[in-house]
Amino acid sequence: MGHPGINRIQSLHSSPILASIYVARLACVWSKSYLPPSRLAPSQFERNECIAYFLTDPKLDEVMRILFLNGPNLNLLGQREPEVYGHTTLAEIESKVRQHASSREAEIEFRQTNSEGDLVGWIQQARGDFDVIVLNAAAYTHTSIALRDAIAAVGLPTIEVHLSNISAREDFRHRSLIAPVCRGQIAGFGTESYTLAVDAAISLK
Ligand code: DQA
Repeated sequence: MGHPGINRIQSLHSSPILASIYVARLACVWSKSYLPPSRLAPSQFERNECIAYFLTDPKLDEVMRILFLNGPNLNLLGQREPEVYGHTTLAEIESKVRQHASSREAEIEFRQTNSEGDLVGWIQQARGDFDVIVLNAAAYTHTSIALRDAIAAVGLPTIEVHLSNISAREDFRHRSLIAPVCRGQIAGFGTESYTLAVDAAISLK
């Protein structure tokens, strides 16, 4: 058990060393913006004060941490059935989501896998590190009881997202096995479904 601020930073960084480098870098940025322009380098004392301020900043705990999970074949976006999914790649969607999230002061992590087991594992591990999951389970939406059970077991608010309007497509896409355990569903807005999901996640705060 350490300082709550340190725990919070550690949860975003894989090791205490990375977390402390992050604190030190933030402290440098702060000391530069707080010091009068005539002063070039902050003293160690001033730097320590900035670190102390940072660690007790109540705003730190208000940052929404959103985990975006993408299922099978979404790595092929851009070339995959562009008449259905458009020409935007998953990397471009990620960068759009990052921009939007940072304008709303949310932090995101963005992952893709073709494996159902990876998705189940990531959902299970999300507790404590993230506030909300945004899940495009792709084809597993329509088949996976394991994903549904993982969402229900972990209990983190989860938002189901789809690029296409699954209700307006083939019959087998009309049923989502995960919908009943998700807080809501955003579907049919193309890449905007993802930025809308950021706003939906923030609204759950
Ligand atoms: C999808 C819709 C699913 O039915 C399909 O299997 C996908 C993508 C979407 O984003 O529109 O792979 O989740």
